[in-house]
Amino acid sequence: MTKKIIVGVSGASGAIYALRALIKLKNMQHETHLIVSSSAWQVIKNELEISKEDLIKLASYSYDEYDFTAPIASGSFQTDGMLIAPCSMKTVASIANGLSNNLLLRAADVCIKEKRTLVLMIRETPLSYIHIDNLRKLAILPNVVIFPPLPAWYAKPKDLIDLVDQSVARALRYFGIEDKSLRIWKGGMED
Ligand SMILES: Cc1cc2nc3c(=O)[nH]c(=O)nc-3n(C[C@H](O)[C@H](O)[C@H](O)COP(=O)(O)O)c2cc1C
Repeated sequence: MTKKIIVGVSGASGAIYALRALIKLKNMQHETHLIVSSSAWQVIKNELEISKEDLIKLASYSYDEYDFTAPIASGSFQTDGMLIAPCSMKTVASIANGLSNNLLLRAADVCIKEKRTLVLMIRETPLSYIHIDNLRKLAILPNVVIFPPLPAWYAKPKDLIDLVDQSVARALRYFGIEDKSLRIWKGGMED
């Protein structure tokens, strides 16, 4: 069944997670609604070899950071939830405190109020007390998944894409999406 997933990209390191998620969702023919923050575009320029146009083309729909007229700004527009990959500590702080001053944050706020799945691929190290306190406020909500994309070393990743894909595939499962690349531990790894 086709899913409707909002993909938010914030300005933490790890833009590759957004890229791989968009590629996978497109290949599986799911509908994606993309919002990239202005800080994220700076990181993308530094970390990825893909143009803005080509990244946007991977999504079914994409919106400007401050376009509050976008359908995803309203709870009346039904979606299967939102993945924020990567998720900065600024975005965590804003969501945890109900601040919705850009479309990415508003879409996350909508997911929380509508009890839809919100997966946060958080990325920062080390974590301060403030980061942990903000994450605590979110972790208590049953529909929010705090998902630091830590490498599954037991899956013996062959290369960086393999390593990234394992985390992306695990994150997509929270939306009921099974990616064939996911390697499952069954007392040993499945091939
Ligand atoms: C190259 C680069 C890497 C960054 N990495 C991180 C990071 O891993 N985690 C984080 O919380 N912020 C990181 N930042 C800082 C955020 O981009 C910054 O806090 C920004 O305000 C986040 O805004 P946004 O959440 O609206 O995208 C990074 C910035 C740059 C330029």
